[in-house]
Formats: sequence, C-alpha cells, structure tokens
Amino acid sequence: MPHITVKPFNTSMLKKELYRDTKLLFKAIDLSSSDELIAVEVKSSKFLLHIKKGKESWLLKYDKVTRPLNVNLIKRAIDDISKELNLDILNSNITIHHNREKIANRYEKSIEDFINIKFPFKEVSIEVGFGSGKHILYQALNNPNELFIGIEIHTPSAKQLLRQIELKGIDNIWVINYDARLLLEMIPSNNIHKIFVHFPVPWDKKPHRRVISSSFLDESMRVLKKGGRLELRTDSNNYFWYSLNTFLDRNITAIEIQKNISLEITSKYEARWLKQEKDIYDISVTSLEKSKDRDLNFNFNFNGVRYSNSIIERVTKKPILFSDFFIHFERFYRIDKNSILIKVAFGSFNRAEQKYIYIGSEDSYYFGLNPVKSPTNYKAHLKIKEYLNG
Ligand SMILES: C[S@@+](CC[C@H](N)C(=O)[O-])C[C@H]1O[C@@H](n2cnc3c(N)ncnc32)[C@H](O)[C@@H]1O
Repeated sequence: MPHITVKPFNTSMLKKELYRDTKLLFKAIDLSSSDELIAVEVKSSKFLLHIKKGKESWLLKYDKVTRPLNVNLIKRAIDDISKELNLDILNSNITIHHNREKIANRYEKSIEDFINIKFPFKEVSIEVGFGSGKHILYQALNNPNELFIGIEIHTPSAKQLLRQIELKGIDNIWVINYDARLLLEMIPSNNIHKIFVHFPVPWDKKPHRRVISSSFLDESMRVLKKGGRLELRTDSNNYFWYSLNTFLDRNITAIEIQKNISLEITSKYEARWLKQEKDIYDISVTSLEKSKDRDLNFNFNFNGVRYSNSIIERVTKKPILFSDFFIHFERFYRIDKNSILIKVAFGSFNRAEQKYIYIGSEDSYYFGLNPVKSPTNYKAHLKIKEYLNG
C-alpha cells in the first residue's frame, strides 16, 4: 500500500485548498496520540490519509476504513501533497500508473453503486471470495451473456482480478472489494441465478468470521430468483457439517449433496487439496420461493446532531452492546474548535462496519460513504444518533 516516510513538518501548512488534483477538505488531530488525519477528495472520491508520527520520521499513508480500491487515488493524494508542500521525503514506494485508473473505474463497483442498481445483463451470478479469480474468469469467458459479480474481501486479490479482466478484455465481470456478507444485503431480491462460495476459509477457531451463517443463507435465498442456487464447495469436513446443519435449520429447504465430483475448472485452492487427496464436498441449496423486495427506506442522516463542547466527555468510549448489534465510539479527532471526527465501529457482531462521523456546528455526516443499508446497520445508526445527541 502506498506510503512515504518524511521528516517531521509543521502540519499547520496543510490548508483547505487544492494541491494539484487533490482537494484538502480538513485535517484532524487524534486526541489519544499525536497522529493526524488529512481528509482529501481526488476525482470525486473522498478518503483520509494518516500521518503516523515517530520521533525522527513520520509516515504518510492510507487510512484502512476510507481507502478507495483504486490505489492510484491514494498515490495521487500523497504525491500531490508532498510535492506541493515540498516535504523532505526519506522513503517512498509511490509510482503512479496513469492508465490503471481507467480499468478500476469500469469494472470495479462500490457498495454505493448497489443502492439503485440496474444489471446490464439478464442473467447475473455472484462469486463470494474468488481468490485468484480462476473460477470467475472461467465462468465469465464461457457465459458471455451473463454478468458475474465477484466479491472479495482481500484487496490484492481484487486488484489481481481487475488486471486479469483488462488483459483478457472481459466485460461481464464486476469486482467489489468488500465483505460479501454485507454486500449481499445491497442486492435486490429475486435477481440472481447462482451464488458460488468455493473453498471459504473454515475459521474453525473464529466461527463468527465464517461466510456461511443462517443470516447469509437468508440473504442468499432472498437475492436468488426462484430456482436459483447457492453452491458451496469445501474441503473441510467440519465446515461441511456446520453448513449442512445451518441449511437444514431452515424451515423449507431443497438441498443437494455431492462428494468428490469434478467441476470443469479447478480453482487454486482445490488444486492444493486434490494434491493432498482430500475429499471435496458440494452442497447446493435451491431457492424455492419468490422473496419480498428489500426495504431500503433507511436514512443515515445526522439531522439534529451538532457539535457541542461537552460531546467528547459525554460519549462513552466503551463498546455498548444490544441484543443483536453493538456500537463503539473508538477514537476522537479534533478538526477545529467547532468540529470533530469520531471513528466508530457498529452493526452486527459478526459483520461490523467501521466509519468516521464528521460532527460540526452546522452539519454532521458519515465521512466518505454511508453504511450499507441493512436493517441492523440502521438500528445501530439510530442508537449512534441517540448517543451523540445525549
Ligand atoms: C480459501 S480462499 C478460496 C479462494 C477461491 N474461491 C479458490 O477456490 O481458490 C477464500 C477466499 O475468500 C475470501 N473471503 C473470506 N471471507 C470473505 C468475505 N466475508 N467476503 C468476501 N470474501 C471473503 C478470502 O479473502 C479468500 O480469498
């Protein structure tokens, strides 16, 4: 990930202005360390840069929560700011590839794109956790009239697939670098032909991180059209039984089980397990009914929430637990005397979101993108508002 190391500098030089292609929106000082955040806008994408302060040198790098998938935007911002301010660079890993920005824009989708999504293909399938992308590329090349949406939480894998798409000139794959468990909630009901979950991480020691769960199953059945299928393929005996039980817990289910069948394409992980002569299990669950449309009537505004001098002392820094979700005001940053930024984690226990909330004397909002429009996130948002209002 792009970063530079610089000699310490006077951050009051950072002003709300345009640094070449980078608009500096504000800066904020971490109240629990001396680190600073710089809010920028590059090509309509808003994100934060992080200044991590050491004694002899400072690191200027991306911020995990607001990071855009198009790494060139981060490089651009770091490069623009460091050059305009003439920072004394000790180390840098930045080289800007001008032609890469174009690819990511065409095939990369963000969760926001799914709010009012219209699919340009009649048939749409999803692959969760595509890893090296071997299976999704095979499917896309062999089914040119079908759209394949690849959702991958691991950024280097998402980027690798974007590069492959460009090399092979494929135009029926969309890539989303996000947690599939959350993204599924953004997909309209009754649209999807197949959902592939091939060789998910078994997470035997941290089951809450598993992709398969009863809520994932419910969301899958909602987004699948009647007759559409969720296809799980795993080498883990434990994950197989866990998933089967999760699927059987559903009231009405059509489940098909197969063992050691070959598919037309062998994924990277499958090849590894086959070499070790492991058993491979397939479970496929068919959607039997038409589902209700999803309710997207959630408004993530902060109407009524305004900055007051007591807000930082008043808001608890401990996680607050409710029956099916939590909220945690994790870190506070001072922008100026009338505005702050709060880093907050919230949502369901196994699919938490992290966001920054800008709180000013005239308005307050999630910096960057709003949370995923899921019922749990909305419940958490209403609580966040309540706590911020005091
Ligand atoms: C064991 S690998 C399998 C990759 C590929 N399907 C294959 O068969 O080679 C599991 C993949 O799922 C991804 N993954 C894990 N949890 C995920 C989630 N919640 N959303 C999206 N991708 C996820 C991981 O980053 C990883 O690339």
